[in-house]
Amino acid sequence: MSEIKNYKEALQHPIFDTIAKASANLELDSYVIGGFVRDHILQRKTAKDIDIVAVGSGIALAKEVSKLLPGNPKVQVFKTYGTAMLKADDIEVEFVGARKESYSEDSRNPIVENGSLEDDQNRRDFTINTLALHLSPENFGEILDPFNGLEDLKSKIIRTPLDPDITYSDDPLRMMRAIRFATQLDFKIEPTSLKAITKNKDRIKIITKERIVDELHKIILSNKPSTGFILLEQTGLLDYILPELIALKGIDEVEGQRHKDNFYHTLEVVDNIAENTDNLWLRWAALLHDIGKAPTKKFSRKVGWTFHGHEFVGSKMVFKLFKRLKMPLNEKMKFVQKMVLMSSRPIVIATEVTDSAVRRLVFDAGEYIEELMTLCEADITTKNPKRFKKYHNNFKIVRQKMIEVEERDHVRNFQPPVTGEEIMKTFNIKPSREIGIIKEAIKEAILEGEIPNEHEAAYEYMVKKGEELGLITESNENSK
Ligand code: CTP
Repeated sequence: MSEIKNYKEALQHPIFDTIAKASANLELDSYVIGGFVRDHILQRKTAKDIDIVAVGSGIALAKEVSKLLPGNPKVQVFKTYGTAMLKADDIEVEFVGARKESYSEDSRNPIVENGSLEDDQNRRDFTINTLALHLSPENFGEILDPFNGLEDLKSKIIRTPLDPDITYSDDPLRMMRAIRFATQLDFKIEPTSLKAITKNKDRIKIITKERIVDELHKIILSNKPSTGFILLEQTGLLDYILPELIALKGIDEVEGQRHKDNFYHTLEVVDNIAENTDNLWLRWAALLHDIGKAPTKKFSRKVGWTFHGHEFVGSKMVFKLFKRLKMPLNEKMKFVQKMVLMSSRPIVIATEVTDSAVRRLVFDAGEYIEELMTLCEADITTKNPKRFKKYHNNFKIVRQKMIEVEERDHVRNFQPPVTGEEIMKTFNIKPSREIGIIKEAIKEAILEGEIPNEHEAAYEYMVKKGEELGLITESNENSK
C-alpha cells in the first residue's frame, strides 16, 4: 500500500483544531475540501473561505464549533441547502453534510440525499477540487484523494471525477469553471472533457447570467485571458455568451486586399493590457474596443477596408451587451463606453502630435486619460518591429506633451474659468443663449491654445466675444 500523504502544515490556522475537537465531541468525521486544499498544494494564495464536509450534519457541526470558539460567533443556517456558515476572525467557514446528488434535465439544483465522503467527492466538479484533508484528531491532515487529483495538479490537468458528460450536463456552470480554472492556473482541459463541453454547450442557457459573468470576470482578470477566450470560442460557448466577439472572427479578402482578424487582434490587446493593469473594467474595454468593427466593415476600391465610426457604434453596443448579460448599467459601463468611444483618438494624434490635439484629448478623456493611454498602448499589436517601435515612441511623445500641456492649462478636470453668473453680471443680462455661446467660445479658445486657462485672459476674451454679439458691458467694479 502506498504511503498516506499528510498535509498537516496546511492546517495551522487554529480553526482547524477547533473543528477537529467539535467533530470528536459529535463523534463524526469531518474534512476540509475543495479550493482550500487545491490552492495550498499549488502554493497559491489560499482563499479566505474554507469548505468543511461532515459525515453527518454540517449544521450541527457548525453549532458545536461555535460553542468552542471565544465569543461564540453567530452560525448562519441555510436550511434549504443543509449548510451553515460562520465567520471566525478573518475567515469564513462553510459546513455541509456529505451528500449524494442527482439532477434533473432542466435545472442545476439537484435532489440531495445524505451520503459518504466518497459520494460527496463524486459529486464535485474536478478531480483537483475533490481533495480532502482529514480533520479528526487521530488522522489530522491526511489526504483523501480517490480520483488522483494530486496527480492532475502536478500534470496541470482539469479532469472530472465522473464521466464528463454527466458532470457538465448536471451542472453546466462547470463548463465555465473548467475554462476559468484552465485560464487562471494555466492547466489543460483533458480531451474528453473538452469534447463534453462542446457537446453540452447549449445547456449553458439554464445558468443565470450573473454566474456566467462571474466566471467571465475571473477569466478576464487572469494573467493571460486569451487562453479562456480561445477555449470559449473552440467549444462554442462564446457564440452564446459574447456573439459580438465571434462576429470579429475571420479575414476578408477583396481584390488582394485583406484586413486583420479582429477577434485574434482583440485577444492580443487583452493579453497586452493584462500586463499593465488589474482594472477589471479597463480589461473589459480592451475586450470590447473593436466590437463596432463587424457592423461597420466596408470595402471600397479607393481606400480598401474601412470601419468608419466603429468606435461610436461599438460604444452603443456596449450598453446592449451589458444589459443582455445583466451587468451593472452604472458608471462602470459608462467608463467602458467612453474607452471604446475614444479608443482611436490617441492613435490618430500620434502621427502628428500638436499641442491643441493633445489638449483636446486630455479634455475629452478627463479623469480617465491614463486608462485611455494604457488601452491604446495595448492596442499596438503590429508584428513589424520598426512600426512597433515607432508607435510606442509616438505615444511617449504624446505622454510628454500631455504633461507639458497639463502643467500649463489644467484641462484635465476642466472648470470654466469664467462662470455663467459672471457673464450675466458683466453684461447685465438674464439667463439666455448668449451665455452658452460665450462659454463655449472661451473653452474652444483655451483648447486651441489661443488663450491660457486663466481667469484674466478668459475674462478679456469674454468681453470681446460679448461685444461681438452686441452685448454691452456694465462698468461694474465687482464684476472683475
Ligand atoms: N463545486 C462544484 N461545482 C460547482 C461549484 C463548486 O463541484 N459548480 C465544488 C468544488 O469542489 C469546489 C467547491 O465546491 O472546490 C467550492 O466551490 P467554490 O468556492 O465556488 O470554488 P473553489 O474551488 O473554492 O474556487 P474559487 O474560490 O476559485 O471559485
